[in-house]
Amino acid sequence: MKNPISNILDNSVDPNQLWSGQFKIPWGDSEFSERMLREHLSQNHDLASRREEFIQQQIRWIDEKISLESPKRILDLGCGPGLYAKQFADQGWTYRGIDISPASIEHAKSAFGEYGEYEQGDVRSAPYGTGLDVVCFIYGEFNVFSETDERLILDKAFEALNPGGWLLLELQNYDSVKAIGETPPSWYRSGEGLTGLFSEDPHLVLVENRWLEEQETSLQEFFVLGADSSEVAVYHNTTRAITDEGIVQLLESAGFAELIIPSDWPVPEGNLRLLVARKPL
Ligand SMILES: C[S@@+](CC[C@H](N)C(=O)[O-])C[C@H]1O[C@@H](n2cnc3c(N)ncnc32)[C@H](O)[C@@H]1O
Repeated sequence: MKNPISNILDNSVDPNQLWSGQFKIPWGDSEFSERMLREHLSQNHDLASRREEFIQQQIRWIDEKISLESPKRILDLGCGPGLYAKQFADQGWTYRGIDISPASIEHAKSAFGEYGEYEQGDVRSAPYGTGLDVVCFIYGEFNVFSETDERLILDKAFEALNPGGWLLLELQNYDSVKAIGETPPSWYRSGEGLTGLFSEDPHLVLVENRWLEEQETSLQEFFVLGADSSEVAVYHNTTRAITDEGIVQLLESAGFAELIIPSDWPVPEGNLRLLVARKPL
């Protein structure tokens, strides 16, 4: 029988498998999503969702800049636990969210059911509907998909928007993604770091990061050593670095125009930017 430490020693990655799904955070796993929900709802940090004050600033920005007559319809891709729904509804928007996390969607339905509609689904396959004024994808999750899937998501958004409708994509900056991959290995105990995200039980997390130059992608590996278990659980996160030229090319080939990167988008971290694009009238 292999010693569990062999999971840590075997650090080979087949670049052809990078986007196969095995190197992703398991957002759709029910137990993992329960643990992640705690991080979304925490008002102590901005790690999974922003704290309420930033969410309010972002919605105010969207409502003011994308000034539309009612009815105004928004689709929120990767909506998490629905933290954006109430304020959008209060400003007169019809809000719909799609997210792969079962716990987040359950929370959205129970806490914010009266302010919007929520569907558990994968943004690559779930229907987006039609007649939308805005499609948003907030907080950098667009970068965790392969370029093929990014094209798919943009095509679906374009199709679902009204002529003149807006796409709002919050992307991770190229250099920040590269820096993730270049960060030296580290470790932390349960009770520190992302407390309890990987396990409810006492554990250590060893973190290893890699920048894959050819793929312009960062790969993070989290080795979770349970105090009461002989298993080593391994989690991955894969993030694609996208240049400004790269995203412009992707957006234009999907049919979008009028691309801008506004400098006044409210964002608590320095590592993200908003891209605004429009479906031509
Ligand atoms: C960083 S969180 C941001 C959540 C939310 N936009 C916010 O800012 O509060 C990323 C979200 O994307 C969701 N997600 C990841 N992959 C997804 C997929 N393939 N389809 C749908 N949702 C996905 C996760 O479940 C998570 O809720």
